[in-house]
Amino acid sequence: MTCLGLTLLAPLLLALPRSWGQPCPPVPKNATEFVCTAPDLYIFPSGLPNGILSISVEFTNLSTMGEDALQGLPLLRELHLSSNRLQCLPASLLWPVPELRILDLTGNLLEGLPPEIFHASGLLRDLVLRGNRLRGLQPSWFQSLRALEWLDVSGNQLRKLPPHCFLLLRSLKSLDLSHNFLSNLPAAALQGLAQLERLDLEGNRLWVLDEEMFQPTRGLRYLFLQNNKLSVLPDATLLPLDQLDTLDLSHNALHTLDFCLPEPRDTLSLDLSGNPWVCDCHAARFLHWLRSRPVHLYARNKTLCLAPLEHHNQSLATLAESELGVSCPPTPGPGKQESQELPPDQVGKA
Ligand SMILES: *[C@@H]1O[C@H](CO)[C@@H](O)[C@H](O)[C@H]1NC(C)=O
Ligand SMILES: *[C@@H]1O[C@H](CO)[C@@H](O)[C@H](O)[C@H]1NC(C)=O
Ligand SMILES: *[C@@H]1O[C@H](CO)[C@@H](O)[C@H](O)[C@H]1NC(C)=O
Ligand SMILES: *[C@@H]1O[C@H](CO)[C@@H](O)[C@H](O)[C@H]1NC(C)=O
Repeated sequence: MTCLGLTLLAPLLLALPRSWGQPCPPVPKNATEFVCTAPDLYIFPSGLPNGILSISVEFTNLSTMGEDALQGLPLLRELHLSSNRLQCLPASLLWPVPELRILDLTGNLLEGLPPEIFHASGLLRDLVLRGNRLRGLQPSWFQSLRALEWLDVSGNQLRKLPPHCFLLLRSLKSLDLSHNFLSNLPAAALQGLAQLERLDLEGNRLWVLDEEMFQPTRGLRYLFLQNNKLSVLPDATLLPLDQLDTLDLSHNALHTLDFCLPEPRDTLSLDLSGNPWVCDCHAARFLHWLRSRPVHLYARNKTLCLAPLEHHNQSLATLAESELGVSCPPTPGPGKQESQELPPDQVGKA
């Protein structure tokens, strides 16, 4: 089904008797808000008063939007279209509403968006595309969204991200990419996101992160990486993140605690549960670090040692450092040598 066919059809349907409009409540001429949740509404209402600031047509049955659906609503600031059956949107849909701040398309059937759709949306602040069928993101969507602070693309079918995709999102504070099928991210995926405070990558298939990944996002406070397939973290990946409040690495395949954690400024909430930890000399150094820093370790009872046998299923945080071996044998490989030789209180500072 193409968007074009439906767009051409829409004016015909609009020309039919007004019975389609009846599911929605009447709108006074001076209304600034329009809300309709009639489950059988299948055409976006026309003729709304031109002073409307906010439209919510949610839990209805829209499968298409006409090109002119928002014509004559120059003040519109919020458009909520969640829980419909939209499969595509016309390229020019948003061009008549340059004041738009919030667009919520949660829970539709969108497989893509036209490249130019946001060209007039320079004031858009919140964009929610959660729970659709997007298979990829196009850098062109994000080229004019200079004011965007909140981007939610969770619960789609993303497998990879284009490099530099978010480069121009200079105001972005929260990026939610959780519950997709991402297996790795381009090294420059976060380039440009200097204001980013919250990044959610939960529930993907990430097995590796680039060591330089978080260099552009030094102000990050909430980082969610739980329920992925990470088995190693390059030593210094997390080091730039000294503003972190919350770091969730639970339910991955991490085993060796040999990566560096950032020095917490304030209290760091840390979840390492559900990983097959090897409780060796690296774990001893980690425990020393943990006990001498303002860190709150969550789910301690589920932060268990898989190996060695003598500590199998013991909670990591209940072990004494002395039980875990004193010094780590040097391992070959560039970059490792130095951190191996750090005294325990230097872990996390390398
Ligand atoms: C709209 O006008 C009616 C009377 O014509 C008035 O009672 C109502 O308060 C007005 N509503 C708004 C949102 O201005
Ligand atoms: C929504 O539209 C579909 C397809 O046209 C139709 O089968 C379904 O009955 C509609 N649902 C409601 C509640 O009207
Ligand atoms: C963790 O385990 C300890 C000892 O086994 C137990 O006393 C405590 O209630 C447990 N805490 C939670 C939150 O399950
Ligand atoms: C270790 O704990 C897991 C999960 O609680 C359990 O399934 C397993 O049987 C335990 N293994 C041993 C040897 O106690």
